Amino acid sequence: MDIKQLETNFDAKLSKNENIEPKDWMPDNYRKHLIRQISQHAHSEIVGMLPEGNWITRAPSLRAKMILLAKVQDEGGHGLYLYTASESLNISRDDLLEQLHTGKAKYSSIFNYPTLTWADIGAIGWLVDGAAIMNQVMLQRTSYGPYARAMVRICKEESFHQRQGYEIMCKLSVGTKEQKEMAQDALNRFWWPTLMMFGPPDAESSNSENAIKWKIKRESNDQLRQRFVNQTVPQAELIGLTIPDKNLKWNEAKNGYDFGEPDWTEFNNVIHGNGPCNKERLGARIKAHEQGRWVREAAMAFAEKKKERVAA
Ligand code: 3HC
Repeated sequence: MDIKQLETNFDAKLSKNENIEPKDWMPDNYRKHLIRQISQHAHSEIVGMLPEGNWITRAPSLRAKMILLAKVQDEGGHGLYLYTASESLNISRDDLLEQLHTGKAKYSSIFNYPTLTWADIGAIGWLVDGAAIMNQVMLQRTSYGPYARAMVRICKEESFHQRQGYEIMCKLSVGTKEQKEMAQDALNRFWWPTLMMFGPPDAESSNSENAIKWKIKRESNDQLRQRFVNQTVPQAELIGLTIPDKNLKWNEAKNGYDFGEPDWTEFNNVIHGNGPCNKERLGARIKAHEQGRWVREAAMAFAEKKKERVAA
């Protein structure tokens, strides 16, 4: 089949909302775009384990510890599904991790902020996982089959994560004066970085045009950010917390909130390696990878031996 015919078939599948599968022909730029996005997503899941992992030994009760442990473990599982989806595009896990460790591949900006108090674990679940779901619900209908299927399970787990975070914030906000202040302080520090998770404004989003054309993304960065604000403001009001934005105002005409502009200079610094915790996070990932080398080698040696035994 000539290239024109292959392109026509690819476009026809997209226009019928059929998934593109690993063995289907796809344009090289579509493949590269997916590798970039899915692997950055995978990296975000495993780097995201670090700020919360810091609090497992300091959780305030056995119940809280068990829940946090399960959540952090879920994030590791999400990384696994997403690395596997990336590998189906003909790139090896080693190459993907090399891109993370050398700073060539990005991961979500949000994980470059510190977790200073227990309330930060609440804010991460409520806001960060809440923002992640807002973005990921549309990714269940993304055009690449393995990515779409991975997202179905991930979304189910993320919605549990969002609720556990909101529960922590609810409890703190009806606790002592100090506990309520701690919850408000976490909201103050995480609000703007959470809005940045959706990416730059549409006018500056270099990848959006292709992502929308290829049905990888179904909605724009700004649309999702707006929906997140609309959903989250009433949740904050319900538990007596204040969104730290003096420009926040209900706009009847657009049936949504007007809100202030995140600090895009800060965002650009963070995604280019200069956020508060970038070096610490990458250092911890590289160390974990090095320390896990013997486990990977032992697993490979075991698999080889098993193959030999089966062949004999
Ligand atoms: N953090 C880091 N980099 C970001 C970013 C963010 N919050 N938002 C945008 N960028 C980067 C992009 O990767 C791109 O850089 P690149 O061209 O070098 O890759 C550049 O900024 C311009 O942004 P675009 O809007 O053009 O990029 P995209 O169209 O890819 O949109 C995105 C960015 C919305 C993050 C999109 O990639 C996406 O939907 N990704 C899948 C979801 C995802 O990765 N989520 C991570 C959230 S954390 C998470 O899920 C963990 C959970 O446990 C909470």
